[in-house]
Amino acid sequence: MSTVNEDGLESRILRAATTNTELPDFPDDQSDLPSDFEYVPDEEEEVEEVEEMTETELLQYLDQQDNPLMVAQRLFYHELNTLNAQKHEHDWKLKCLTTKAIEDLYAHGWTQMDTLLDLEVVKGLRREADTMLSNGEFTAASEIKSNEEDPYRDTNARDDMIKWVDPENNNINPPYLQKVLDFISGSLHDDLASMIRLHGKTEYQLAYYHPKDAQYEKHRDALPTDNPDDTSQRRVTVILYLNPGFCGGDGGELKIFGNENAQGCLDSADREIHPLLGRVVIFLSGVVDHAVLPAKKERFALTAWMR
Ligand code: OGA
Ligand code: MN
Repeated sequence: MSTVNEDGLESRILRAATTNTELPDFPDDQSDLPSDFEYVPDEEEEVEEVEEMTETELLQYLDQQDNPLMVAQRLFYHELNTLNAQKHEHDWKLKCLTTKAIEDLYAHGWTQMDTLLDLEVVKGLRREADTMLSNGEFTAASEIKSNEEDPYRDTNARDDMIKWVDPENNNINPPYLQKVLDFISGSLHDDLASMIRLHGKTEYQLAYYHPKDAQYEKHRDALPTDNPDDTSQRRVTVILYLNPGFCGGDGGELKIFGNENAQGCLDSADREIHPLLGRVVIFLSGVVDHAVLPAKKERFALTAWMR
C-alpha cells in the first residue's frame, strides 16, 4: 500500500502563491487555471498580495516541488514497479485492460491500446458522430469557455468543437455511442478504479477537429494531486479515436511530451500518436503534457475524464 502525501495540492499551491522569490503572480481572473481548479481566496493576507500566475507557471512550480508522476503514483493502491507487485499480477482480475497497460500507466503515466473495442462498434460511433456534427450538435470549445461544464482556458488554445455526452442519457444517445459509453463506464472504469483511487464523477465528451489545421496547444488536463479525497481534479484521461483510414500525412496526432525525472534528466522522449480508428490512449490527467497537432482531415475522438 502506498502512502499518501500529507502535503496536499492545496498547501502546495498556497506555498507557490506565498513564496516571495521570483514567482509569477496569482491570477485575478481564473481563466488561466485548469478547468477543475477552484481558487477560493481565504482571509490570509499573503494570498491576496499575489496577483497573476498562468496555468503553465503553476504547473512548473508544482512539478519542481514534486515530480507529478510520483504524485500520481500515490493514488494507486499498490506500488506497481516492484517484483512483489508483479508476482501478484494474476490477482488483479482485470476485465479488459492488460497488466502491461496498467504497468505503463504507473511507470510512464500513459498507455496505448489498439484492440479494446470492436471496430464495427467504433465505426458505428463514427457515423453517429458525423450525423451529430451535421445536425449542429457540436459547439466550438472556445466559445463555451465560461460554461460551468467546461470552463476551459484560453480561447486560442484549441480549435475543436465538442459535445458533452452522458451514459445515463440512454434514451437519447444513439446506439453505438451508448455501447461505447457503457463499456467505458463499466469494464474500463472498473479496471482503472481497481488500481487507482477513483471516487468522483466521470465526464464524457465527443470532439471534432476540422481538416484545416484544427489543433489544441500543449496543456495538461488537471493539476497533479495525490489527495485521495479530492474529487475535483481529473485523474485519468481516456481517449478513443474514431478515424478510419487516417495516415501519416493526415496530421491530428496526439503529441505526448516527454518528461523529466526527479533529477531533471529527460526520462522519455516526445511521442506522436496517430488518432487511428479504435485506438485508445489512457493517461494520468495531472501528469502528461499533451497537444493535438494540426489536423488535415476531419478528426473525431471520444474522451472520458475520470476522477
Ligand atoms: C483534450 C485533448 C486530445 C486528443 O480534449 O483535452 O487533449 O487527442 N484531446 O483529442
Ligand atoms: Mn487534454
